[in-house]
Amino acid sequence: MKDLFFRENIFEILDYIDEGVHIIDNRGNSVYYNKAAQRLDRINKNDVMNKHLLDIYPSLSDETSTLLKVINTRKPVFNVEQTFINYKGDKITTINSSIPIVAGNKLKGAIEISKDITQVRELSEKIIDLQSELLKNDISDGLIEDETICTFMDIIGQNQTIKELKQVALKAAETDVPVLIYGETGTGKELFVRAIHNTGKRKDKPFIAQNCAALPSNLLEGILFGTVKGSFTGAVDRPGLFELANTGTIFLDEVNSMPLELQAKLLRVIQNKTIRRLGSLKTIKVDVRIISAVNVPPIDAINTKKLRNDLYYRLSVINLDIPSLSERKEDIPLLVKHFINKSNYKYNKSTKRATKEVMSIFTNYDWPGNVRELEHTIEAVISLNDIEEIKESHLPQKFKSISASVNKYDNCSLNEAVSKLEENMIISALEKTNWNTSKAAKLINVPRQTLQYKISKYNIKRRRAEN
Ligand SMILES: Nc1ncnc2c1ncn2[C@@H]1O[C@H](COP(=O)(O)OP(=O)(O)OP(=O)(O)O)[C@@H](O)[C@H]1O
Ligand SMILES: [Mg+2]
Repeated sequence: MKDLFFRENIFEILDYIDEGVHIIDNRGNSVYYNKAAQRLDRINKNDVMNKHLLDIYPSLSDETSTLLKVINTRKPVFNVEQTFINYKGDKITTINSSIPIVAGNKLKGAIEISKDITQVRELSEKIIDLQSELLKNDISDGLIEDETICTFMDIIGQNQTIKELKQVALKAAETDVPVLIYGETGTGKELFVRAIHNTGKRKDKPFIAQNCAALPSNLLEGILFGTVKGSFTGAVDRPGLFELANTGTIFLDEVNSMPLELQAKLLRVIQNKTIRRLGSLKTIKVDVRIISAVNVPPIDAINTKKLRNDLYYRLSVINLDIPSLSERKEDIPLLVKHFINKSNYKYNKSTKRATKEVMSIFTNYDWPGNVRELEHTIEAVISLNDIEEIKESHLPQKFKSISASVNKYDNCSLNEAVSKLEENMIISALEKTNWNTSKAAKLINVPRQTLQYKISKYNIKRRRAEN
């Protein structure tokens, strides 16, 4: 009685979840079929219950049905992608896990849980279509976006390491050897990759960039290597990015996010210079230069088992470690100038410079977002204002605390520094005493007349907001 109570309630609960649940007994007949499964298959519960699986899905067989396979092997299967046409005629892609139900050593049946990933699958196919479209345009119309024509000239920096990196990258550009770039976010990794491609002999050939962290891992393989009709029901013949990038360069960004099994496949692609579309036995020759990037130190990625050691050695024939902006603060003035020009051009403005104070705030800031953060800071100020000079007051809130702690006595004489200190101390004393000169004079221990004299000397006035 108690058992029955639990069973019926659990089944009712399963009707509220988003995943399809299908349970069969050990003969292959359906014994439970939740609401989500009915929605996915577009079939009514009554047409499924107590019927054999192959009667419900005539297109499946003992081999292709994961549920029947589990009944035969008694082994669970996890995360298998399946595409099928449902009863309404829609193409549906699901990720299925099927688990045998065993009680007291006896096989009672099997349960399958299906997650609908149709939209994700469609998106991934769209990405490939757009990439091929873009490529067609790139090749026929010449280069369209200004970032695609970036070269080493666009990499600004006089820092010794940056100069050396540019030299090494320039040499690398003349060859086909794999390059692995490491740098924190916004340090200019992609800029280097594009400069290498645009300088080398493949510059008129395709350039394809794919962020390996941006897609669910089970879709990445099909995107990189392509799919063939029949690899799963409903799959179509589609080239992957390696085929699209043939004769050119592929940029694998955040390669440390690629699943380890796929890293093993990538290794074989590099070794054999061939790819195999998902579900195909045929190998296709590809000539693609691989540049990859990681945003954690490669050694950490290897130690935490995010990056295969053997793949690392293959990818990093040339290694470029780009320093963070805080490690090359001497480049800040050059970069500021560069981004002022870039933003002026973009927003049709004519800002000339940043004040000394702003430069000193910038040099004292940590720049966790590196060069990109600096670029965005300047772009925001210029696009929002019509100004000749970028001053402290134009900067966003996050710089205020630095502005207070920055050493204001940089680049000034001792006399100037003493005067500034004196002025600041007087203002602070006046503020503390609510602008009562007698009390303020006592606080900093000077005669009242002296304080009065200095207030007029420095032209100190109570700010209006405080009146
Ligand atoms: N040395 C540089 N000179 C000029 N511009 C730079 C430099 N480094 C970076 N930038 C600019 O900063 C922005 C970020 O650069 P990029 O996209 O190459 O960084 P990234 O290292 O790939 O970052 P992420 O890891 O976040 O992808 C871009 O607009 C780029 O043009
Ligand atoms: Mg990048």
